Amino acid sequence: METIKVVVQGALGRMGREVISTLCREPGMQPVGAIELKASENQLRLPDGSATIPFSADLDYILSRCQPDILVDFTTAQATMAAVRTATKQGINLVIGTTGLSAEELDEIDQLATAHQVGAVVAPNFALGAILMIHLAKIAARYLEYAEIIELHHPKKADSPSGTALATAKAMAAARGRPFSKPPEKGALDSRGRQIQGIAIHSVRLPGLLAQQEVIFGAPGQTLSIRHDTISRECYMPGVILAIKEVTKHKGLVYGLDSLLGL
Ligand SMILES: NC(=O)c1ccc[n+]([C@@H]2O[C@H](COP(=O)([O-])OP(=O)(O)OC[C@H]3O[C@@H](n4cnc5c(N)ncnc54)[C@H](OP(=O)(O)O)[C@@H]3O)[C@@H](O)[C@H]2O)c1
Repeated sequence: METIKVVVQGALGRMGREVISTLCREPGMQPVGAIELKASENQLRLPDGSATIPFSADLDYILSRCQPDILVDFTTAQATMAAVRTATKQGINLVIGTTGLSAEELDEIDQLATAHQVGAVVAPNFALGAILMIHLAKIAARYLEYAEIIELHHPKKADSPSGTALATAKAMAAARGRPFSKPPEKGALDSRGRQIQGIAIHSVRLPGLLAQQEVIFGAPGQTLSIRHDTISRECYMPGVILAIKEVTKHKGLVYGLDSLLGL
């Protein structure tokens, strides 16, 4: 089996560091280069101390020099799109975890990946438990009339509501073919969260939290809660590794891990 060569963009970020550590341990994969806005040296020492790899803020330079099979990106939407435009031209496949990409940006990723015959997996959540939470919520959505979502994250999170909460609400409404109902309410209604398809999404940002989400369904006389807790960023790594293994089998955009997991 040939070793899969991977460059990581956002290499000094919280996710980028975790990805590089995981790649060092993963048989059949090798981190061969790293891109980071604040790269000050031209080599990055791998966390296991086994080697150093080329390191720069210059995307073109690292991709041309390292010739990876895959670019993994956990940065910002702007940095992601710059990487997509350059990497697809060079025939490099993409695994993207950056959240907050617009529908237009996803369309552009699909067009560029298709035109250059490479795969691009974009997953707003790589945690397998979170993907299963959404899958189970889609099943329950067909049977229960009322639902709300509470998402809880660390205070450095850039977006609110989270991309996962928005995607969950949209997937739940699509699964039932119509928006959720709002129960008749009384009293002051100035704190009911972001309304998406009849679902109120409540965002909590507190030190001590990493990422959690609870989908609560209501019906007369009963509730059903489906909850996922992220304990550490390790939870994202099996999903990232799966995407790295699978991405080269596809041409164009693969959005989310559902199809790769057979859901
Ligand atoms: N899909 C998932 O499962 C998942 C899970 C967790 C997080 N995320 C998403 O992943 C992204 C990164 O999260 P994080 O927690 O790792 O954030 P982070 O710690 O802020 O890391 C992002 C890193 O990317 C760097 N960066 C920004 N622009 C860049 C550019 N043009 N070129 C190269 N590097 C650049 C940042 O540098 P500076 O600090 O200098 O700006 C930072 O080191 C966010 O969108 C987050 O929502 C996705």
